[in-house]
Amino acid sequence: MKTVVVITGASSGLGHEIAKCLLKKGNYSLILNGRNKKGLADFTDSPDVTIVLGDVAKKTTIDLIENAVSELGQIDILINNAGITFVQPFVKNTEKELDEIIAVNLKAPMLLTHRLYPMMVKQQSGLIVNINSVAGKEAKANHTMYSATKFGLKGFADALRLEAKPNRIRVMNFHPGGINTDLYRNMPEIPKEKYMDPSKITAILVHLLETDPSIAPDEIVLNRMTK
Ligand SMILES: NC(=O)c1ccc[n+]([C@@H]2O[C@H](COP(=O)([O-])OP(=O)(O)OC[C@H]3O[C@@H](n4cnc5c(N)ncnc54)[C@H](OP(=O)(O)O)[C@@H]3O)[C@@H](O)[C@H]2O)c1
Repeated sequence: MKTVVVITGASSGLGHEIAKCLLKKGNYSLILNGRNKKGLADFTDSPDVTIVLGDVAKKTTIDLIENAVSELGQIDILINNAGITFVQPFVKNTEKELDEIIAVNLKAPMLLTHRLYPMMVKQQSGLIVNINSVAGKEAKANHTMYSATKFGLKGFADALRLEAKPNRIRVMNFHPGGINTDLYRNMPEIPKEKYMDPSKITAILVHLLETDPSIAPDEIVLNRMTK
């Protein structure tokens, strides 16, 4: 049986790179989520991929991901990757943005984990990776809502890890700094060319996914050299 991996937000950026890299290796069965059908088109022809199109903040999408996992009968790795941000002074953020960012960055990974965790407990194995950010460890001006959700995600993972380890389930916080993706698509002033290459971040992450399960990489921080 191939290693079953769920990746949310696989239609672009880091999630897309991780999916591409795992698919190339040939020994993975992927369940990929995203809202943008075009971004997932690279994967539609592969027999090793199940696409779950939809907003991960919606319960119906979480249901579909859970069903896809049940059909495969196994879950080895969950990568909570989907994320959004609204970079601006906090007072300019709207309540709608607040609801959306909490739903996507915090509630969705918690709810999806809540659904898939029991199967991992039954298996007595599993790896949960939360794609966090340096902004989930160090506060950043104008990233107030984003930081709040990522600090929350870290708190969730740190607490869950204590429950998970006795069940041989690993929970990893992955905290990269700036990556050259579309996350800041509406912000031409951000010098993304100085940001890290998503394929290089992916290589490190995939190496960690493939470490022996007796080793638990609880937290990884990847800062960039250039500011
Ligand atoms: N770029 C950076 O500098 C940076 C640094 C540190 C951490 N991160 C984290 O890395 C993760 C990936 O971001 P990225 O940099 O790769 O940005 P990205 O290119 O914008 O990718 C974000 C992904 O999340 C998906 N997504 C967003 N909202 C969604 C929703 N409601 N339902 C389902 N999927 C949703 C997007 O897909 P659809 O649009 O198709 O839904 C997209 O595939 C995020 O958690 C982000 O916080 C990024």
